[in-house]
Amino acid sequence: MDLDASFAVQLASSTERLFELIDNFTQVRVLVVGDLTLDEFLTGQVERISREAPVLILRHETTRQTPGGGANAVYNLAKLGAKVKVAGLVGKDLQGEALRGIFEAAGIDTNGMLLDPDRPTVTKTRISGHARQSVTQQIVRVDRKSDNLPVLDLQMQLAKYIQQQLETVDAVVCSDYGDGTLTQPVIEACLPHSRMIVDAQQDLKRYAGATLFTPNLPEAEQAVGYAIASPSTLTKAGLDLLDLTQAQQILITRGDEGMSLFDRGGVEHHVPAFNRTDVFDVTGAGDTVVAALTLSLCAGASFWEAAVLGNLAASIVVRQFGTATTTPDEMKAALQALLDEEETL
Ligand SMILES: Nc1ncnc2c1ncn2[C@@H]1O[C@H](COP(=O)(O)OP(=O)(O)OP(=O)(O)O)[C@@H](O)[C@H]1O
Ligand SMILES: [Mg+2]
Repeated sequence: MDLDASFAVQLASSTERLFELIDNFTQVRVLVVGDLTLDEFLTGQVERISREAPVLILRHETTRQTPGGGANAVYNLAKLGAKVKVAGLVGKDLQGEALRGIFEAAGIDTNGMLLDPDRPTVTKTRISGHARQSVTQQIVRVDRKSDNLPVLDLQMQLAKYIQQQLETVDAVVCSDYGDGTLTQPVIEACLPHSRMIVDAQQDLKRYAGATLFTPNLPEAEQAVGYAIASPSTLTKAGLDLLDLTQAQQILITRGDEGMSLFDRGGVEHHVPAFNRTDVFDVTGAGDTVVAALTLSLCAGASFWEAAVLGNLAASIVVRQFGTATTTPDEMKAALQALLDEEETL
């Protein structure tokens, strides 16, 4: 792709550093405090129309379960090689067990995954069908979730677990999808850490004092209260978000426009999306950005280098269906490919 010339020069001069940073991901220890979701995909072949009601009957073929929401951030960190601890809530149900099983198979420490007896594991089940030798399409989605917050005692237990872990990790990531895990006591337990990265859908102000926020464009617009439709409103939003959150840096992820980084000194950097042609599904790309960016910062990257590596990781996962993860080897291959392309221009 044709990167902006000055950006390409900057990238070329940082190449060695970037490879080195990726190699150091395996040394990093991260605690993720998040709204944990299980994504389920059930598929079947259409057999006939039911006699009970005018609905399709599917013959079950496959069930696939993958981490979603904050659990996707957790999983992305683990697949990038980090030592990960997860703090969050799951229900006393099969979905919670499934999520724990997936995490444990990936070597993630699940001691901070507490059981919430009052609320189900947030689960999104897509049911898809296909006729013989035909494409599969989604028919309906069933969501399991509660509108209530966890009881105060459970919030305090989670906060206590977080406090106990703070000294053992290089960063704390808060992945807030609005499902009730990130209550005030839980957020306050994270704030003493000197490297706290926040990916929250709303109420960013509750995290005031964290190091870095990574809102996407709609989240940024909602937080500042106006549309971000021009370079000048983008700059204003960056500054307003810095004010609102008291953060060191703000990273606004902008879908196919890449991302923009703002610091308190008034400097802004724009990183173009590295892959705009081979994009299949952008779901969860933001989680991948947070994961790669966090590991980069912990490995010693500048905020700009971390944003570039977050962007690089996202350029890989948008090629795949559903939420996806990537690895240090894939990242290094993608970085090499990017540099090779630039050289041939
Ligand atoms: N259509 C796209 N084409 C190319 N790259 C994309 C596209 N959408 C997203 N990306 C990459 O993924 C990054 C994060 O995307 P986005 O801003 O959509 O995050 P998000 O909305 O928080 O995602 P999610 O919440 O689903 O995880 C972008 O900065 C960019 O690098
Ligand atoms: Mg997001």
